[in-house]
Amino acid sequence: MNQKMVLCRALVYLLLLASGWLGINGELTFGLNGQWKVTNANGSISIPGQVPGSVHTALIAAGILSDPYYRFNDDLYKWVARDNWTYTFNFAVTSDFTNKHNVKLVSKGLDTIADVTLNGILIGSSTNMFVHHVWDVKHAIKVGENVIQVAFLSPITYSATRSREYPYDVPPDCPPPVQHGFCHPNFIRKEQCSFSWDWGPGFAPIGIWKDVYLEAFDDPILRDVVAIPYEVGTPIPSWWMNVTMNFDLGNLSSNESVDATIIIWFPTLHYQFTFAITLDIDHEQISKQVSVPQAQTWFPHGYGPQPLYSLNVTLKIPSGETSWRSMKVGFRKVELVQEKIANSTGLSFYFKINTIPMFIKGSNWIPADAFQERITPGNLSRLLQSAVDANIHTLRVWGGGVYEQDEFYELCDELGIMVWQDFMFACAMYPVDEPFLSSVTEEVHYQVRRLSNHPSVIAWSANNENEGALRQDWYNTSRNFTLYDNDYVTLYIGVIREIVLSKATGLPFLSSSPSDGQLTEMQGWVAKDPTSVYYGDVHYYNYNADCWNISSFPKPRFASEYGVQSWPSFQTLSPVSIATDWSYTSTFSDHRQHHTFGQSQMLAQIQRHFNLPSSKDPLIYFKNMLYLTQISQALCIKFETEHYRRLQSILVDGQGHCMGALYWQFNDIWQAPTWSSIEYGGKWKMLHYYVKDFFSPVLASGMIQGGDVYGYSITDRVNLVNASFVTSVWLWTDLKARYQVTNYFSQNISSSKMVIKTPLNAGLLQKAGCGHQDPLLSCFITMAIYHSNSTQLSPTNPIFLASFSEVVGLKKPTIKISSVSKVGSDEFLVTLKTSTIAPFTWLDSGSLRGRFSQNGFLMMTPSLSVSFFAWEPTSAEELTKSLTVSSLMDLY
Ligand SMILES: *[C@@H]1O[C@H](CO)[C@@H](O)[C@H](O)[C@H]1NC(C)=O
Ligand SMILES: *[C@@H]1O[C@H](CO)[C@@H](O)[C@H](O)[C@H]1NC(C)=O
Ligand SMILES: *[C@@H]1O[C@H](CO)[C@@H](O)[C@H](O)[C@H]1NC(C)=O
Ligand SMILES: *[C@@H]1O[C@H](CO)[C@@H](O)[C@H](O)[C@H]1NC(C)=O
Ligand SMILES: *[C@@H]1O[C@H](CO)[C@@H](O)[C@H](O)[C@H]1NC(C)=O
Ligand SMILES: *[C@@H]1O[C@H](CO)[C@@H](O)[C@H](O)[C@H]1NC(C)=O
Ligand SMILES: *[C@@H]1O[C@H](CO)[C@@H](O)[C@H](O)[C@H]1NC(C)=O
Ligand SMILES: *[C@@H]1O[C@H](CO)[C@@H](O)[C@H](O)[C@H]1NC(C)=O
Ligand SMILES: *[C@@H]1O[C@H](CO)[C@@H](O)[C@H](O)[C@H]1NC(C)=O
Repeated sequence: MNQKMVLCRALVYLLLLASGWLGINGELTFGLNGQWKVTNANGSISIPGQVPGSVHTALIAAGILSDPYYRFNDDLYKWVARDNWTYTFNFAVTSDFTNKHNVKLVSKGLDTIADVTLNGILIGSSTNMFVHHVWDVKHAIKVGENVIQVAFLSPITYSATRSREYPYDVPPDCPPPVQHGFCHPNFIRKEQCSFSWDWGPGFAPIGIWKDVYLEAFDDPILRDVVAIPYEVGTPIPSWWMNVTMNFDLGNLSSNESVDATIIIWFPTLHYQFTFAITLDIDHEQISKQVSVPQAQTWFPHGYGPQPLYSLNVTLKIPSGETSWRSMKVGFRKVELVQEKIANSTGLSFYFKINTIPMFIKGSNWIPADAFQERITPGNLSRLLQSAVDANIHTLRVWGGGVYEQDEFYELCDELGIMVWQDFMFACAMYPVDEPFLSSVTEEVHYQVRRLSNHPSVIAWSANNENEGALRQDWYNTSRNFTLYDNDYVTLYIGVIREIVLSKATGLPFLSSSPSDGQLTEMQGWVAKDPTSVYYGDVHYYNYNADCWNISSFPKPRFASEYGVQSWPSFQTLSPVSIATDWSYTSTFSDHRQHHTFGQSQMLAQIQRHFNLPSSKDPLIYFKNMLYLTQISQALCIKFETEHYRRLQSILVDGQGHCMGALYWQFNDIWQAPTWSSIEYGGKWKMLHYYVKDFFSPVLASGMIQGGDVYGYSITDRVNLVNASFVTSVWLWTDLKARYQVTNYFSQNISSSKMVIKTPLNAGLLQKAGCGHQDPLLSCFITMAIYHSNSTQLSPTNPIFLASFSEVVGLKKPTIKISSVSKVGSDEFLVTLKTSTIAPFTWLDSGSLRGRFSQNGFLMMTPSLSVSFFAWEPTSAEELTKSLTVSSLMDLY
């Protein structure tokens, strides 16, 4: 999908929903999006406010707030969320509209606590930002002028009150002070990280964050359609679809019924199915199963195509109205395999998509902005394209954010990105009183209906880390474990799991991440050790270990979170800071760092393997520190991810058979030190370039253990036949390998295989002439895999034998950009020349947005060409002007 399509679709969407008359989906509709009036509690502020949108962005547009991400503004703007705000809109409708038997207000999302009145009559209340509302307004609407008001209560006031009134403490009460956040997010069904997180600001936005419109109809209408693919038949199964229709019967009385026709139509497949149905109070939902044998299977990125088919479902009332819904659907099968593994205690934990076992390669997605309305289809498309461009085929939509917008899932469907979907509960205990549970019930019904149409969604998970939090007593719940344990089971199992299972989505349900899968269930849903490497998935963070030491990593079945921090680039940081902020220890740096000890942990990891910059110029020193944090992070995540990939087919003491690596975290919510691989604004950190390599479909990965060098081949989807595995030894002084060994091998898809094991010193370093004093300091190794026809299949992957603060032979290189030429509509070829080996060579396009084909690489040939893909129109001249290149030795 290209940029033009996204913009085009966005435009159509906007046109459809601007305020005024519309005739979408058969119903008569009146859009209420557009410019409302926004007023605070005491009336001192009254400004225009765009809907969908938030109070914060309205205040920015009105010039009352400036950039909320600038310096300390997150603290200065806390008052906004503490005030109450009312949205008001005047509109006029005609009698054609008001005369319909049914007139409803449809709101796709209110954030969060609000009373809605039409002409002074209360028509509904909202307590949950994750549900849509369909409220009857027939009794309140008038011909001519109407006024609608949405009166929001401060989410901070609400959650504090709810917490105070609750019969017992539901921890944690407040975030750690370093997060500058608000208390009790768990008492409100709102984006949990909007109260602050260890990587994000606490703004707690308020507003009408989704579309709002009125609709009018006489006869029953189709409210929504859920289409779930499944396979029937052996040995060759064929595709069916279970189409479930939910109707809005309007004012049909309980003893009336309506005869109608349903048409299920796949226009591009030329299938049409017509059913006679009878609608009445007992048939508000009807499921029909239809066979679509011509449908082609949808595959994740890299495994095959992503065919999507239009589906149009129409409800026809004889001599009455017609109502229809249309969508794109895809056909795929998902299995989560948890079975005994020979020679191991525990169970496997892996996904099979369309019967292919897949090593899940990806990351964790967080909200892309603190203000959802600022996330455009263009931003989303750029971010998701950056996922597939880096060989990522899975994103976990993490439980502390939001159920993402429809465009997110549509893009994932088109790009072949699989989505592990959490329900929005994270790092906390939650209340279980009746109003809370009934709100969650509505939320889960709505979100599962909305999301299960997307072939990209492959799993449901009830929460983020709450099973672990309870078992490991993060919040001092052991004082009354039984109480919190019962609450846990009530919410995630009694309510959420029940609803998900009732919907027959064909997808696995996980009760938490991390959890022990089937063992968690056997142990009553809070496992004895939810972090067990023998079962389910793990989250692993260890900020005190040296990440170059691979023995510090666990050997799990599936690693769904792991990561370390880095700082964004100076270019991303500078618009939200001023000169006095530009040091690693400034008040600003401390303020942006929301993770306790984050700065010192990053510094300690850098100092284990690198010298600090030598510059006396504070600004250069600061920029060099930012660069070092990015190098350090890229290496840590590379080492850890390759460790998980090597373990795909390996068991060590019953541990291993790892089938997934989702590093923490993919994107950023603002400009700050975080675990992300992509900066706020879309710029790739060095890590993201490393992701592209370490998630390569064919990878040569090396490790040193007990004096031996091991080389592993990992292949996801091509069988390797008579391939060669080339191990090369290099001196830091030479732009040419000193010694090479080639091993020939064959290997089946979805596996890892040890191809070479040889003594490091005697086997390689001595033969290469690395010197007798300390050969580890003067040499490094690379590994790569070649097809039997000598095409290179894997990246050339370096193995460092010593810290960069110790290696000998590295000289300060002269790297020149020798040419820049345009080779495609958005592609430029940049050729570099170096005088000597240059580690962590970094190309920067300055203010020109785009990405390189590789970056942060070890330059070990005299000349090298790299592609630059521009994200906005530019020329070779402009690119030449803004391009800079640097490497590690420039720091010293
Ligand atoms: C009205 O509310 C604003 C925002 O909370 C506050 O700054 C201002 O002092 C209040 N004005 C009066 C007159 O109370
Ligand atoms: C917001 O409304 C609540 C409930 O009516 C009230 O208790 C609170 O004082 C109001 N806050 C402000 C800033 O007016
Ligand atoms: C539905 O509403 C229409 C118009 O208000 C009315 O004529 C009709 O009798 C209503 N039907 C029922 C069953 O109440
Ligand atoms: C349907 O119920 C209404 C009120 O409940 C009653 O007035 C009407 O006679 C009933 N109609 C039929 C056909 O039973
Ligand atoms: C769906 O079908 C209805 C008629 O059955 C038609 O009016 C409508 O335009 C179709 N929508 C799309 C998107 O094809
Ligand atoms: C299990 O272990 C035994 C003894 O070490 C070995 O012979 C056998 O091949 C192993 N089985 C598998 C499936 O790894
Ligand atoms: C645990 O909490 C419940 C509910 O508040 C209370 O009834 C019970 O006495 C508490 N148990 C302990 C050991 O404090
Ligand atoms: C179709 O979906 C409905 C509603 O979710 C479910 O009750 C039913 O079991 C499903 N049927 C099949 C064949 O999957
Ligand atoms: C070598 O084989 C690969 C994989 O089959 C193929 O893509 C490539 O074009 C071949 N190259 C040559 C030079 O034959």
